[in-house]
Formats: sequence, C-alpha cells, structure tokens
Amino acid sequence: MKGKIKTPVLVCSKEKIAEKYRLLTSALPGVQHFYAAKANFHPKIIKTVVSLGMGLDVSSPGELNLARENSLPGEKVIYTQPIKKEEEIALARDYEVKALIFDNPEEARKISRVWPGAPVLLRIKVENPFCVVNLSEKFGAEPAAAKDLFLLARDLGLRVRGIAFHVGSQTINPTPYFETLKIVRRLFNVAAGEGLYFDLLDIGGGFPIAYRQPIMAAESFFQPIRSTLENYFPSTEIISEPGRFVVGDACYLVARVVGKAVRKGMRWYYIDDGLYGSFSGKVYDHADYPIHPLKEGEGKPSVIAGPTCDSFDVVYREVILPEMEVGDYMVFKSMGAYTLASASNFNGFDKPELLIEEDELEFQVF
Ligand SMILES: Cc1ncc(COP(=O)(O)O)c(C=O)c1O
Repeated sequence: MKGKIKTPVLVCSKEKIAEKYRLLTSALPGVQHFYAAKANFHPKIIKTVVSLGMGLDVSSPGELNLARENSLPGEKVIYTQPIKKEEEIALARDYEVKALIFDNPEEARKISRVWPGAPVLLRIKVENPFCVVNLSEKFGAEPAAAKDLFLLARDLGLRVRGIAFHVGSQTINPTPYFETLKIVRRLFNVAAGEGLYFDLLDIGGGFPIAYRQPIMAAESFFQPIRSTLENYFPSTEIISEPGRFVVGDACYLVARVVGKAVRKGMRWYYIDDGLYGSFSGKVYDHADYPIHPLKEGEGKPSVIAGPTCDSFDVVYREVILPEMEVGDYMVFKSMGAYTLASASNFNGFDKPELLIEEDELEFQVF
C-alpha cells in the first residue's frame, strides 16, 4: 500500500459496478434490472446504480426514501417486501411504484384496502439446494396455491400483473432458475385460461459472485436462463432484483491490525472491524471473504478477531497468515454486499466509512 488510509474503510469502485451492470445487460438482454437496495443502501452506492439506469427494489420506507432522494419515477421502483404494514402500502401507493409483492390472502386483502387496483405480483416459493441463503421458507406461496391466490387478488380488484420468485441468494447453479421458469410458464397459462393475461415476470436476484471458492463463468451461468426466458416468455416484460451480483465484488474492506497475542500457541490478530461491523455478513449472509494480508512471509495458522469485547467476535479461525505487526493493513475482498448494510455500532465502534475508489482515493491500496 502506497499511502495512509483511515480504517476500517470500505472501498467501492464505480467502474466495477458499471462493469457488473454491463455484464447483466448483455447476458440477459431485454431484462430490466432493479438493484436490491438491501444489499448495500449507502447513498453513494444508490447514486451510482441509479446513474447507470437501474431501477430500485425497495422493501421498507427507508429504502423507498432512497428512491425519492434520487428522483426515481415510480415506474423504476418495485416494493418487494411480501409482508407490509398498511402505512408502507400507503407510501408505495403515493409513490405509484411499478408493483407490490404479495404471497398470501391476508396481504392481498390488506393491499386492496389501502390501494384499490394496485399493481401486484404473486411471489411463489422455490426449492433450491444450490443457494447459500434460502429465501423461500419465510416467503413465497406454494405453486399449487397460486391459482386461488391470483383469482382472489383479482376478485379483490387488484391488478395482478404476473409472478415473482427469488431462488435464494448466492445461487451457484442456474438450474433452479430454469426449473422455476417452467413452473411460472404453467401458471401464466393457467391464469390466461381464467381470462387473466399476465404481462410482468420478476425473476428476483440470487446471481452469485466468487468469494474464497471459484464459481461458474458468468456466460455459462446466464446462458440457460436467457434461453429459457426467450423460449418461454418471448413477449413478457421481465425484471430482476440483483443485489450481491452488482455490488458484492465491487468493494473491498481495508482494516488494520490493532493488537496481537499468542494464545494456546496460536497467533491472534485483532483488527478494527469485526462480526458486529462489516463482517456481520459472515453471520447473516454466510459469506467467506478472501483475505489479502498485504505482507510477505512464512504463513502460520492464525486467528483474526474483531475489536469488541465479545468473545463471539472472532472473524476467522486457523487461516494461514504471515507474521503481522500492529499497524499493518489487511484487505478483504468481495465485501460490497450484506456487510456494511447489516453492521452495527455495538460497543461504540464506528461502522466503516464507504469511499468511491475513483473519486475519493488518491493512491492504489493494493
Ligand atoms: C426480495 C429480494 N429481492 C432481491 C434480493 C437480492 O438478492 P441477491 O443479493 O441475492 O441478488 C433479496 C435478498 O435478500 C430479496 O430478499
């Protein structure tokens, strides 16, 4: 590293975000992408994705405010939280979002009370052994219940525009997408048989990035999804809600060694960010971020621990590291998604600052 930097800091590249967005648009032509704000809702990230032309997938009043602050029109916003307070539905109504999600009768009734005629998508659940974070236990209707649900929503006066699903986050194999798309095609046909002509399909997020393990090449991952969409939904408007894929590997964290000790023969390094900060993604998101110690030397099994007083706050155990000194920097890659977003100030420690590499860093970190 050629200069000094205040740590902990999350360094994000606008160009890398743009590159990921370009990759998505060429891999899935015709699909409109709504960035899932929950992955990283820092205002600088939201501004970057909006400036690229992405819409926003929001799921709370706070995230809806991000759309407002960036003057996004309602047509570029989807409200994807399947369970909402009536006040939230009213906010989405006033913003005239493109669509709301529902997955059960109670929610359909609630939406129809607050926003008669609201545009809605029915979220169905997905069986997927290839995802790291399962999103179909808490949410999603059984496909077998879909017909009754969309007919109920229609009878309540809602404008049922189609189906949404999320295969689960960090899905490393494309099979669940095209298997689910076949189910969705059947549901579109069932709806048409009832005189309901769906015109919108939301394929969710879940696209993977590499952490410490390599993943399938993007072209091989997206190709079968693209051809299934082309074959099964040639004239349907299609949207997606990617979060991790857009921002995950566009940011790296720089932390500093603030202390060291030998415990039971093992080297322990204490750094200035931990499980209560941006490494919260190790707990909630089950992510395993690659470590770059920025130091040469013989590697030995070591422990990396966070700065708080809680003994739970151990970030890595038995990782091979060269001897580090207090003041040395460590870089952790692929830390853009579900890291800062779920960080807390536990123990009074500040969350990392987020810097945009191209605008706010005068030197190359590594
Ligand atoms: C409804 C919804 N949409 C989109 C996303 C983004 O998913 P990913 O970051 O895997 O692309 C999530 C993640 O939890 C989600 O719950």
